[in-house]
Amino acid sequence: MTGEKVTLVEVGLRDGLQNEATAVSHEDRARWFNALADTGLTRIEAGSFVSPKWVPQMANTDAVMQAIRRRDHVSAEVLVPNSKGLEAALAADADVIAVFTAASESFNRKNINCSIEESIARFEPVVSGAKSAGKRVRAYVSCVVGCPYEGPIAPGQVADVVQKLLELGADEVSLGDTIGVARPREIHALLDATLSLMPTENLALHCHDTRGQAIANIYAGLERGIRIFDSAVAGLGGCPYAKGATGNVATEDVLYLLQGEGFETGVDLHAVARVGREICELLGRSNPSRTGKALTAHLTEDDLMTGQDQDS
Ligand code: HMG
Ligand code: MG
Repeated sequence: MTGEKVTLVEVGLRDGLQNEATAVSHEDRARWFNALADTGLTRIEAGSFVSPKWVPQMANTDAVMQAIRRRDHVSAEVLVPNSKGLEAALAADADVIAVFTAASESFNRKNINCSIEESIARFEPVVSGAKSAGKRVRAYVSCVVGCPYEGPIAPGQVADVVQKLLELGADEVSLGDTIGVARPREIHALLDATLSLMPTENLALHCHDTRGQAIANIYAGLERGIRIFDSAVAGLGGCPYAKGATGNVATEDVLYLLQGEGFETGVDLHAVARVGREICELLGRSNPSRTGKALTAHLTEDDLMTGQDQDS
């Protein structure tokens, strides 16, 4: 595996902040986006264009998109649930449009208020509109191993949804272990059912670390050739419609694993850890990233402001 490239999709400012009790200002969200782009991350979710009645924390994603520094090599990505969301995403010139559904009917109903089939039908104009505008389309499937309402989800059920999303024209599929119940054996079974449907390079894993298995699951994904992983700085995250779903796997922890295994990410781990610490301080929350904590424990406020590390 040594020397191979792995891409991280940074989801903390979307998957993370959508679950925070208090909304973060668009200025802070944009500042963190820019700081994360400075670390070398090339794919960063800026937010989502969903109903502010459903997820108030993601209101003002248009203002975030306006305030971030656009760079050719950094893709600013957003989630949209319907055509109204697509319109806003195109107006904001998002680079990647992500639609989202689930392998579980009950979860989908709670999350986007429709059945899986209805969601796919709703995505049809969204995907075609995004593609006509020259945008890449990512499609999320939630609850790929377990659902908070329905329990275990069979891999075949996930494969059926993935197949439909590919038929719509999705360029990439991200498989979400929304409530962090998966273990490597289940990830292998999931990949057995889905890898034959598409080129491996178009499949991503989105692991939440609720039960501490995310790094093991990502390792299983690496063994199967997956080279795109979603992660969140400082392990921010959760899902408002999946009670008990704690954060995404921390970007810092994934980077530490990838460095050790000799993968190329182009990302400065220490710089991400500093951003993670700053975000945790501003949000007044503890930092669940073990790597993040280990790398920043000794840093003073001055170090954080000047970007200096005393020891690496
Ligand atoms: P609904 O209530 O069925 O839809 O919600 P509606 O069409 O009746 O609209 C209700 C109101 O929302 C209307 O406003 C619409 O205009 C407005 P009103 O007339 O009442 O003033 N509206 C919108 N506003 C802004 N942007 C839009 C939009 N659409 C409608 N795009 C809907 C259906 C899909 C809109 C709603 O359920 C929703 O927004 N859900 C979003 C849920 C969400 O964001 N969940 C978190 C992301 S998914 C996730 O975290 C999982 C993931 O991380 C992977 C994993 O971990 O598994 C991706
Ligand atoms: Mg998620």
